[in-house]
Amino acid sequence: MILAIESSCDDSALALLEIASKRLVFHDRIIQNADHAPYGGVVPELAARLHAVNLPKLLEQIAPRLPQVKAIAVTHEPGLTVALAEGVVMAQALALALGVPLIAVNHLKGHLCSLFVEGEALFPLSALMVSGGHSLIIEAEDFTRMRQVASSIDDSMGEAFDKVAKMLGLAYPGGPVIEQLAKTGDENRFDFPLPLRNDPRLAFSYSGLKNSVRLAIEAQGELSGQVKADIAASFQKAAVDHLLFKTRRYLMRARPKRLGLVGGVSANAYLRARFEALCAEFGCEPLFAPLSFCSDNAAMIARAGLEQYLLGDFCDPASVVIRSRAPLTKED
Ligand code: KG4
Ligand code: ZN
Repeated sequence: MILAIESSCDDSALALLEIASKRLVFHDRIIQNADHAPYGGVVPELAARLHAVNLPKLLEQIAPRLPQVKAIAVTHEPGLTVALAEGVVMAQALALALGVPLIAVNHLKGHLCSLFVEGEALFPLSALMVSGGHSLIIEAEDFTRMRQVASSIDDSMGEAFDKVAKMLGLAYPGGPVIEQLAKTGDENRFDFPLPLRNDPRLAFSYSGLKNSVRLAIEAQGELSGQVKADIAASFQKAAVDHLLFKTRRYLMRARPKRLGLVGGVSANAYLRARFEALCAEFGCEPLFAPLSFCSDNAAMIARAGLEQYLLGDFCDPASVVIRSRAPLTKED
């Protein structure tokens, strides 16, 4: 089995994936939302301190299976460095104690593998990755040859959901709360401008939209429940309009046979429905990860780790490099 550890942001997660059968034997995570909620966002040092408490709790659950572990996979980039370090230290200790190789996994590659955790690898593959840290279009010929063909020039999509939720006085993380509230709102009440509409670049931008929402909130003065719902719905529509406006350009240009939707924001049902409709227009097969693998988890890291295990892509436990930023390749 491969034992995988994920601690790049505020989720502590562990998974065990059988090498031969690709069966997920164990996966669990301890989320920290309530701990960071008072601050309206993730506090890196607090996340790290909680990983140091929570990762050993998860490890205890799989202690009897440790003799069956053949390799340790751990997220080493990109993410919050102090948070990544907690998972990496545990991985180093386990690799040395068990005498098994260490596999350093890129978190973005992990998200891509969330599309086939217990199945055969699906390459070539294009995917839209929308999370708290990224808004990307990725093209992967295979596991080792991947490139970003689009990214955000400022905020990520998930970040925009979180910041708008904060402006509306809603809970953290904002994505699921906005989605819920938007169901009772009128998405056409506020006409927020579409970012980068006349910009030829294949790129995303969310800070202008966020500021438009801020101005609309300020213009309202006191916010009634209905106005909040209308703002949530109008923002969600604009955020998805923008994402899919640029994705449409990509589909027109690249005509991929299939397009995945991964990352925390991909749990959004409104986005999923509209993404599916867009893919149908282009005869492109839409791929989704199960909801439990949309936000950060260790199952996807284990699956990426398995690809690297099969390639013999191991890392010296004494010299694991931790990086906060790690693009897959330069954009063209
Ligand atoms: O992938 P993820 O768990 O962590 C990162 O790698 O960033 O993504 C977290 C992000 C947060 O910004 C959260 O608000 C957003 O995903 N999110 C959603 C939904 N569920 C989570 N955004 C919109 N709608 C949702 N249902
Ligand atoms: Zn993530």
